Amino acid sequence: MLTRRNFLRLCLKSVASLGLSQVLVPGLAEALRSRGERPPVLFMELMTCAGNLMSWLNSLDPRIGELLLETVDLRYQNTIMAGEGELALRALEETAEKERGNFHLLVEGTVPLKANGLYGAIGHRANGEPLTMLEVVKFLGNRARSVVAVGTCASFGGPYAANPNPSGSVPLDAVLDRQIIKVPGCPIHPDWLTVTLSHLLLFGIPDLDREGRPRIIYGDTIHDNCPRRQHFENSVFARYPGEGGCLYRIGCKGPVTFTDCPTRQWSGSHNNWPVEANTPCIGCVTPGFRDRMAPFFEHLPDVDLPAVAPRARGIGLFVGTAAAAGIGTHLAGSILSGRLRRNWVEGTEARHVHLPDKEGKVEPGPHTPPPRVHPPMEKEQRAGDPGHLPEGRDHPPGGQGAPP
Ligand code: SF4
Ligand code: F3S
Repeated sequence: MLTRRNFLRLCLKSVASLGLSQVLVPGLAEALRSRGERPPVLFMELMTCAGNLMSWLNSLDPRIGELLLETVDLRYQNTIMAGEGELALRALEETAEKERGNFHLLVEGTVPLKANGLYGAIGHRANGEPLTMLEVVKFLGNRARSVVAVGTCASFGGPYAANPNPSGSVPLDAVLDRQIIKVPGCPIHPDWLTVTLSHLLLFGIPDLDREGRPRIIYGDTIHDNCPRRQHFENSVFARYPGEGGCLYRIGCKGPVTFTDCPTRQWSGSHNNWPVEANTPCIGCVTPGFRDRMAPFFEHLPDVDLPAVAPRARGIGLFVGTAAAAGIGTHLAGSILSGRLRRNWVEGTEARHVHLPDKEGKVEPGPHTPPPRVHPPMEKEQRAGDPGHLPEGRDHPPGGQGAPP
């Protein structure tokens, strides 16, 4: 019997590679079998490059085939299912109605709003009109037991909602009035979705941070666990990608990026990650990525302190807003003490931002990142539910696949 305590230990970072296949999948399968459950899952891809799906499919431990075949009942996945057209749309609609309140919805990508959603469609209605992603996600989102945003685009908008955002893309929570579990990453590490989904199936919704991300994965900053931290402390900084030392000066966003790359590591066999490959972390799991994390090879904004020195955590929260994340106490302390400025901010292309005044207003500086471009959305449009999927069944196949 897989207890929650054992599950959490198993999924924690450095031991993840030792037992997800051998322990997690059999434990999950046994628990679901004993409850007589085989939870239906719909995996919708909206405005996306499908990079998160690709990453998940490349998981070696566990292999995705094992996970999906032994635990859940995957009824729809735009990209990998064999069929298409009317059958696929019917399966989608039937699952949403018959399994209402019971199926889990995974969504990758943004929801395009421009032209009432016409920039993204998954198929056609019987009368030939496109069935937009906006309609589908509201239809499914209002019936699902849980909704998981897979990747940074679905979670926070990501590259598809970046300036100039020609499709009017928004993240899931801009169109759904309900709790959304966010698993950001550009792309996600396969374990991040596997661990989140497993927790959801076994024990319900995991403990989430204020951004809606599972704390078991997104609890610490990259900087907190970085093996180059000592270089940071000793002010040994790389001057270009590929050089040894801490990569902060050439753009590392590790101090404001919350996830476990340094301890979990990437590449299937968990043996490498961006900083170890001598390239800065670009903050891909962070709200506001990529506009607020760019330019990728410039260091984080320097902070002009107001007359009243804020508390360290305050700086973290501010930078969390300005740079769309939080910041390690050490870094905040270093900024306060001026150590960072003395050691390496001066002489580089420092970007200055201003802390908010008492009313919370921030005077924009010359390098203040541009605001995110999300088109306005009416409340009725946000809460609305189209009530049905395609009308009639006589239109030629136009969808993206049939049930696997
Ligand atoms: Fe590591 Fe980046 Fe922090 Fe330097 S700034 S210690 S490279 S996470
Ligand atoms: Fe993304 Fe930074 Fe990890 S760019 S993959 S969060 S090291």
